[in-house]
Parts: sequence; structure tokens; C-alpha cells
Amino acid sequence: MEHMELYEAIFKRRSVRRYAGPIDEGTMEEVESFARSLKPLHPGIRTELRVLNDDGVRGPFKVSAPHFLAIYSEEADGHAANAGFMLQQMDLFLSSRGIGSCWQGGPRPTGDAKKVSGLGFVISLAFGVPGEDVHRRSTAEFKRKPLEDITDIGGMNDILEAARLAPSGMNRQSWYFTGGGDVIRVHYARSMLTDQMNRVNAGIALCHLWLAALHEGSAAELVREEGQDAPRGFSYVASVMLK
Ligand SMILES: Cc1cc2nc3c(=O)[nH]c(=O)nc-3n(C[C@H](O)[C@H](O)[C@H](O)COP(=O)(O)O)c2cc1C
Repeated sequence: MEHMELYEAIFKRRSVRRYAGPIDEGTMEEVESFARSLKPLHPGIRTELRVLNDDGVRGPFKVSAPHFLAIYSEEADGHAANAGFMLQQMDLFLSSRGIGSCWQGGPRPTGDAKKVSGLGFVISLAFGVPGEDVHRRSTAEFKRKPLEDITDIGGMNDILEAARLAPSGMNRQSWYFTGGGDVIRVHYARSMLTDQMNRVNAGIALCHLWLAALHEGSAAELVREEGQDAPRGFSYVASVMLK
């Protein structure tokens, strides 16, 4: 899978909440193979992915879908953003293949799937043969905040637009972007109730920034800069270097 195909899916993907059925075996093999190739945001954090079925997952706001791709991780600094960064590559891959998908913030695995190889569950992505549109016809159909509400960077609009369109839990868009020149820094909105989800959201936005920066021909190195300040109410997550 080329990064270009993932990048293009940013501008047309949408959450699919109605499913017509399971994907066939060959397609599942492709999905599992792509899942093994995901780039981490923080390579030092151990993760594992598992495909679960509808019975294997339970909880609020669950969509009825044939498959759920669950990500498990060791608990380490940045692990929720890392999970968001990785699974968003999956969301874009599925969309580019015409497979429906929807992030699932509420539901959790049941039984044996609660833990895998000693790693705790972080979040999952429902997927399957879509029973509704997988793509939007234009970016005007995205309900998102304007760029000036989520960044104080002047310019770099092409790259920031990719982050602006990113999906987020309850469509909160709980992120803020600072920097300019050769760097974009990503911050997440701290929250009593949705802190973990907001960190996942920041990882999703970082995934879109990374793909957009690669598309612009940059090396798009992902780094965690030491001692970074964040705007009030936000915490620093990571940066994309644009050189
Ligand atoms: C971390 C996260 C958790 C989410 N949890 C749920 C969920 O539990 N149920 C659901 O129906 N949608 C869920 N969504 C989907 C969002 O509601 C959706 O991405 C957002 O409203 C933007 O719409 P779009 O994905 O169609 O662009 C979640 C999205 C993210 C990123």
C-alpha cells in the first residue's frame, strides 16, 4: 500500500455504521497483512492487533459490525496516541479499499480477548462490507472546526487541512497545532472524562499530518521534543518535522 492511497482517503473517508456482512477470506488476509505493516508513532511501545467478531466486543455506542480490529498495548507514556496513530492508518486503508469502518471508543472486548500477550486493550475499529456510503463526495461534507480554531500557525494550510479533517471521538476535534517553519507540534485537550480518547484523537491527527507531510515530499520525521510547552488546557503529544 502506497502512502499516497492512504493520503487520498483522508479527503473522502467517513464513519460507516451500517454493515452488509463480513469481508471475504482473501480480503481479510490483506487486512491482516496491512495490520502487520503499520508504522508506530513511538516504536518503543509494544503493541498487538487482533480481529474480533461482533460477539467478542460489548459496550456503549457499539455499531453492529462483523469485525472489530482491536489494538492492545503496554501502558507507557504516549501509548494512547500511538494506538490512534496506528489504527488510523488502518481506517484509511479500509476506506481506500471500499471497506466500511468506524472507530469504537466505548465498546471493550469480552472474555479471553480482554488482554492479549499481557497487553491491555486500548481501542478498536469496527469494519466490514459497507451497507452505506464509504466515501464523501467532497470535503464540504466534513463537519469540522475551521483551521483558525485549531491552530495559530500561519500558512502550511495544505498539511494542516489534512489534520483538520481527521475523525475524533464524538467529533470533539480535541487538538491544537503550534509551530511553523519546519515543525508542527500536536497537543491534546486535557479532560477529566475523555482524557484517553483525546490522546487517541491526537494520534489520529498526527497520522494525517504525517501522510500530508510525506505527500509534500518531506521526510516527515516523528519526534517527541523534550520540555515542550502547550497552550492552556492542552498537553504536548508529539511533532512532525517537515524537512
Ligand atoms: C477515538 C474515537 C472514538 C469513537 N467512538 C465512536 C463510537 O463509540 N461509536 C460511534 O458510532 N462512533 C465513534 N467514533 C466516530 C466519530 O463519531 C466520528 O469519527 C466523528 O463524528 C467524525 O465523523 P466521520 O468519521 O464520519 O468523519 C469515534 C471516533 C474516534 C476517533
